Amino acid sequence: MPIIAPSLLAANFLKLEDECKMLNESEADWFHLDIMDGRFVPNISFGPMIVEFVRKTTKKLCDVHLMIIEPEKYAEAFKKAGADGLSVHIEACPDLQKNIQQIISLGMKPGVAINPDTPIADLEDILPSIHHVCFMSVYPGYGGQHFIPESIGRIKQLRRMIDEKGLNVLIEIDGGVTVENAQSIIDTGADVLVAGNTVFKSKDPKATIHELKAIH
Ligand code: DX5
Ligand code: ZN
Repeated sequence: MPIIAPSLLAANFLKLEDECKMLNESEADWFHLDIMDGRFVPNISFGPMIVEFVRKTTKKLCDVHLMIIEPEKYAEAFKKAGADGLSVHIEACPDLQKNIQQIISLGMKPGVAINPDTPIADLEDILPSIHHVCFMSVYPGYGGQHFIPESIGRIKQLRRMIDEKGLNVLIEIDGGVTVENAQSIIDTGADVLVAGNTVFKSKDPKATIHELKAIH
């Protein structure tokens, strides 16, 4: 069964507490929190303060996805806000090993996020040091985009690379995941499905999470 990580970016922020309650009552495994700085991506979302509020509502894993430049300046703030996992973008980190070591020493699960136009081979050296790859199946910056079909071949390539090295790194797919395409994504060997609009804009979010969770 896949790990399901609803993205709060698509939640109703006027009712954030209710949205978190719904996720707690659902089969969702992780809370995915998207941080955007208006520099690395064209959009701005929210910062550690919101993560801190969300943290108070749940015991589930808080998976923070940093779409920001100079993530080393903020890693500690997100740890203090209650992040369990922290992903940094490979494209934003000239010294990626250093960023990952910082995340590990702060006691969080380290993740590396990768954009659709960055070669999968660029992940090779970092894989042994990380907990998950946040594989972008859309260009980051906005929720509600369409899954890029070329992602399928790239996820398979990543799966092979992880398996050949005998590693336990989780593959998390982020962007454009729907009830319709989730099975084909899981078939590539993905472990975690992020879903924003598919969950929060659904008529029955808990039932939608159940549908995603039932895929195998
Ligand atoms: C995109 C974010 C995603 C986004 C996914 O930049 O990293 O996590 O919230 O949203 P959906 O599932 O609506 O594509
Ligand atoms: Zn994300």
